[in-house]
Amino acid sequence: MNNFIFENSTKVFFGKGCVKEYLSCWAGKFGERVLLAYGGCSIKKNGIYEEVTSILEKAGKTVIEFSGIMANPTYEKVLEGAKIARENEVDWILGIGGGSVMDCCKAVSLAAISKKDIWKEYWAKPGIIDFEPLPLGVIVTVAGTGSECNGGAVITNEGLKVKTGRDYPKCNPKFALMDPEYTYTVPVRQMVYGSFDILSHIMETYFSEPDVSNVSDDISEALMRNVIQNLRVAIKNPEDYTARSNLMWDATMAENRVIKLGKKCDFECHQMEHQIGAFTNCNHGEGLAVLHPVYYRHIYKYGLKKFVRFAENVWQIRRGDMTDEALAEAGVNALADFIREIGLPTSLKELGVTEDIDLREIADSCNLSVGSYKKMTHEEILEIFRECI
Ligand code: NZQ
Ligand code: ZN
Repeated sequence: MNNFIFENSTKVFFGKGCVKEYLSCWAGKFGERVLLAYGGCSIKKNGIYEEVTSILEKAGKTVIEFSGIMANPTYEKVLEGAKIARENEVDWILGIGGGSVMDCCKAVSLAAISKKDIWKEYWAKPGIIDFEPLPLGVIVTVAGTGSECNGGAVITNEGLKVKTGRDYPKCNPKFALMDPEYTYTVPVRQMVYGSFDILSHIMETYFSEPDVSNVSDDISEALMRNVIQNLRVAIKNPEDYTARSNLMWDATMAENRVIKLGKKCDFECHQMEHQIGAFTNCNHGEGLAVLHPVYYRHIYKYGLKKFVRFAENVWQIRRGDMTDEALAEAGVNALADFIREIGLPTSLKELGVTEDIDLREIADSCNLSVGSYKKMTHEEILEIFRECI
């Protein structure tokens, strides 16, 4: 295995009733004034808002609200949150929601303290955080990004048309409360987007060197099988606790750095999706679903052994008289079939990306991953986009 350093500083409370049981105790650790951050009205409709605010009130906290965090959170929204945090002298942030809320909160936790332009300093390029961000706690309400257990935050700069993520360990939430029952009200379609994002995070890690026996790849295979199996169950019965809890923990396991240890990691599909998102604001999971099979058809010959393993160990395809190449292709086809089965789109057109959009401009703005089995060029990314249309 390759050398690595591992740390994950987020304390996780997982399971039925964890918010009621632990929030008040943890709220006590971070001061009196809390910035309560959330997205639209889902938490008001499903009762989570009421449950959380009554716990905070009983704990004697002063709550300052920061709402309306949109999907694909913008840098402008981050600045709005930082301004509210500074003006109200908040001591800590409590984010309730999915990846968009958690990511926005992480960026706010920096922007509220730093006097610098945090986009230029920390997102346009990797930066050094030599101060303590505002402490952040999160309550996860939809499984997908795994943002609850890392320092990653993906922010969109609308002016520059750039959507990019950075992972700063100092931005890891101090605690994460994860009650799978909180995800029951997530619309099935949104659950499918999030679950495909989980699968994508695992695949982007798995399909990279080293390929010799390593525990990360073995865990990844188990996780991929678990996502596929439990998503099928949860689509049929959204209130199946076992399925929802597995999906929720799969999301965390995919992005809490464990499976990335010693791996190069690819994430070229994420780079491509982020830029399509920056130009069109498309949904993250949908964009990934369109791109993955097409991208893998471009690279599988360069990582043939791993794609064979994927076919056999994840999709349980029997070799019979197939060559390595045919078997690897069968694995990618199984992935494409699964995408159709769970109702995700298979073309960029379905995401509203039409032929009059300048695909070359988007392709040229994509970062090129060094972890891919085949280093992409902007020309080949453009080819992939054209095949996806
Ligand atoms: O805004 P509300 O009304 O709360 O509705 C939300 C929103 O529409 C809804 N929702 C959440 N919990 C719900 C619920 N509806 C009913 N019941 C509940 N319990 O679901 C939607 C969730 O949206 P969002 O947070 O945008 O979804 P997701 O978690 O997929 O996050 C996507 C964002 O995260 C970034 C993506 O690029 C995108 O910007 N990513 C972050 C990563 C990270 N930090 O590590 C990695 C990922 O690869 C990804 O790039
Ligand atoms: Zn993702």
